[in-house]
Amino acid sequence: MNHIRNFVIIAHIDSGKSTLADRLLEVTKTVETRLMKPQYLDQLSLERERGITIKMAPVKMQYEGYQLHLIDTPGHSDFSYEVSRALKAVEGALLLVDITKGIQAQTLANFRFAKSLGLRVVGAVNKIDMPSPNAEKIISLLAKLIDQEPENIVRVSAKTGEGVEEVLKKVVADVPPPVSSGNDLQGLIFDSQYDDHKGIIAYVRIMGGKMKAGDKVQLSSNGKVFEVKEVGSFSPRLAPGKELAAGEIGYVATGLKEPALVNIGDTLVLSGSSIGALKGYREPKPVVFVSFYPLGTTVFEDLRQALGKLRLNDAALSFEPESNELLGRGFKVGFLGQLHFEITASRLRDEFGADFSTSLPSVAYRIIERGVERIIKQPAEFPEKPDKVFQPMIQLDIVTPPEYLNGVLGLTKTYKFQINETKNFGDDLLLVGTMPLAELMRGFDNTIKSVTAGYASFSYELIEEESAEVEKLEILVNEESIPALARVVPRDDAEREGREMVERLRDLLPKQQFKQPIQAKAWGRIIARETIPALTKKLGDFGKNGGDVTRKMKLWRKQKRGKEKLQDLGRVSISPEVIREILKKSI
Ligand code: GTP
Repeated sequence: MNHIRNFVIIAHIDSGKSTLADRLLEVTKTVETRLMKPQYLDQLSLERERGITIKMAPVKMQYEGYQLHLIDTPGHSDFSYEVSRALKAVEGALLLVDITKGIQAQTLANFRFAKSLGLRVVGAVNKIDMPSPNAEKIISLLAKLIDQEPENIVRVSAKTGEGVEEVLKKVVADVPPPVSSGNDLQGLIFDSQYDDHKGIIAYVRIMGGKMKAGDKVQLSSNGKVFEVKEVGSFSPRLAPGKELAAGEIGYVATGLKEPALVNIGDTLVLSGSSIGALKGYREPKPVVFVSFYPLGTTVFEDLRQALGKLRLNDAALSFEPESNELLGRGFKVGFLGQLHFEITASRLRDEFGADFSTSLPSVAYRIIERGVERIIKQPAEFPEKPDKVFQPMIQLDIVTPPEYLNGVLGLTKTYKFQINETKNFGDDLLLVGTMPLAELMRGFDNTIKSVTAGYASFSYELIEEESAEVEKLEILVNEESIPALARVVPRDDAEREGREMVERLRDLLPKQQFKQPIQAKAWGRIIARETIPALTKKLGDFGKNGGDVTRKMKLWRKQKRGKEKLQDLGRVSISPEVIREILKKSI
């Protein structure tokens, strides 16, 4: 065990964690050079497409007689649950700072977390190949933050490879080796995935004892016993091995097929063992809710299976069945944030081929109506006149260069963001404030980027709820309310939002053979109205300009498919594409 080091790389988004991990894989010859591709550990196609890490990714490397287990982690606040789980499986954290940007908000949040768990922190600055006039100041600030001398901060360019070996040397020297909890098997499940052949594959950190194929082991939480099909390590692909021993990070193929049996944070022990469970993880608290309804060839059961399997690989996902008069049976799905929702919707489509429509994302409101308390997770269910409403709030930490302070202050007007504290942080300012979580979903991310030319960064965490001045905004098409478009909005924004929604719908909705009134309703009355005129051009006209029969048939078929989709959504003519379009613009 003295020759094992377990560590994570943590940083703000885009600091170069995945690129540094690539270099580490090369230097340690874990991946052959000819097979190397950028962001190697980002295995999901979506991660590669978007250039962001969504999933933590463990990998085992060999370096100068040491066995290193690295876990690359995502940088965005929405995926901090991934980071928190990875942190509990290791003894050290490499805190990486982009030298061209300085210490950013999520770096601070991750550092505080790593420190609270007693991890040894190794500091490094990346992108030293780029000009950075404030490099020395940033290095001093980082050293001060982690309570070390500036000479101890490793200077790296993940692009050119400079300083990469030093990172490994520093990890070996500074991160303490793991300590065994004893001879009895105790394995912490920190992640999992589903495999059609091997069943559920649990990612484990062995705290004590050992485990090999054929062992009878048990899940502490539900007593489920199974025979280990295979154990192995991450290279980074699954590489079968003989055994997993104390201090190591690896995987166990359980052969179990029912997704609900394996829970993240559970402890693996030998069957019949009296040793207790390890302290697991706090349950993630979903804060953004969206309804998913199956569409086309996807049926309710398909969606249930897809969500169940995806949950194995995304412990922050929660879902429960719900039904709707218009849309039938579907699921209310809980997320840790807007990006988490978008990523999940894409993964369900890409990895499981699921087709579905979604409602607009909403936070959960606690309301009191005639003395009865209810939690409302769906805007359509929000009562017209509740006596009291409470909404989830966040603490927002913003790090910005002082020249963009005015831009950030401007956000207090648009976003109900209240600043409680302003501190100097090196050459930057650290602003600490509070804001309703719902405001974060109104394009806050993009706005702060644009008012600070991308120089400010932020991180957030949930705090105590507060009472809210909000109103239900309903959208009616052809006099019929569309539940998927209902929203709860700040009272003083209701008029403007209502007007914008009807205008957007007027532009997005296809014309029909008849006039379509589009209305916004709040306070029990119509507050905005637009009308889509009736269609005048007939399909027959198509042939006049040289169109042939096949083209016409194609158009007919397209219209027919469109109509079928519309039927899926009920009697009202709103296609999933329109909902998606509205969604895109209102976030
Ligand atoms: P997330 O996974 O989204 O949190 O990002 P990350 O921290 O993994 O960053 P990533 O490795 O994706 O790098 C972000 C961008 O910085 C990419 O365009 C990289 O090519 C670039 N980059 C990374 N390291 C360096 C470096 O040392 N020098 C330069 N010039 N660019 C770098």
